[in-house]
Amino acid sequence: MISLSNFADLEVHWESSEDLSDLETASVQSVITSPPYWNLKDYGHDEQIGTTDESYERYLNRLQQVFNECYQCLRDDGTMWIVVDSLIERGNMKLLPYHVAERARDCGFLLQNMIVWYKPTAIAGMNDRTVVNKKEYIVFLSKSESYSLHPEMNEDVGDEDPAKTTTDELGTIWRHPVKRGSLGQNVSHKAPFPVPLAKRLVQVSTEPRNIVLDPFLGSGTTAYAALSEDRRCLGYEINQEFESVVSSRLADLQQSALHTNFQG
Ligand SMILES: C[S@@+](CC[C@H](N)C(=O)[O-])C[C@H]1O[C@@H](n2cnc3c(N)ncnc32)[C@H](O)[C@@H]1O
Repeated sequence: MISLSNFADLEVHWESSEDLSDLETASVQSVITSPPYWNLKDYGHDEQIGTTDESYERYLNRLQQVFNECYQCLRDDGTMWIVVDSLIERGNMKLLPYHVAERARDCGFLLQNMIVWYKPTAIAGMNDRTVVNKKEYIVFLSKSESYSLHPEMNEDVGDEDPAKTTTDELGTIWRHPVKRGSLGQNVSHKAPFPVPLAKRLVQVSTEPRNIVLDPFLGSGTTAYAALSEDRRCLGYEINQEFESVVSSRLADLQQSALHTNFQG
């Protein structure tokens, strides 16, 4: 197994992101993340956010604490992108993306938009009494009004990509199939997001050598996208058992990761 210390542009903290005081204030250009969903997935750690014995209110309070910490770490012109979906329980759907957006706003973030991630291949939830859920949201926030995007850096993912407008600006519907067997899906983690989605977020929200932070690193999709685009990445993940998953995903980037040190 390749040690993560081989990747000079990556710094992973195997602890809760409810405390980011180890990180430098106003140093991060973009936070790109997907939080654990409430009551949904057991990632195997007692202190993880969203366990079954945690109330929805407490879950949101803990997420808000993470957003608050992210706010302190972000540069004034930085942005935060949260990939999250509604919690679909029959007759009791919880509008988590909106609650997440409100909690981030309470930390001082400005809500810029809600992007829809269209998942054409999704089949979960299909039966004769429900509609098939083929989307998630990406909550797009900025720390201040002085943020800027780089839509010209946005890699085209095909003719059917509804994110591209005729004027080459970025639209609010992004099509990213969830493909089993491709890098980013064929990994031992319960909820990775696709690499092309993470790369698009990195490209539009940062420039080379900027710092990207993922407070819920999981299998390391954000780290993979950031390092492959010559950005530096900080990650927090409470379950250290994902270390081998992250390092094996990054293995093919090893040759290109020879920058002097993280701060360089
Ligand atoms: C939805 S997954 C992230 C998936 C990631 N985007 C990927 O592509 O693999 C959420 C992650 O948050 C982690 N987590 C839960 N509570 C945490 C906490 N307090 N601090 C840091 N990580 C936590 C879980 O272990 C899980 O890996």
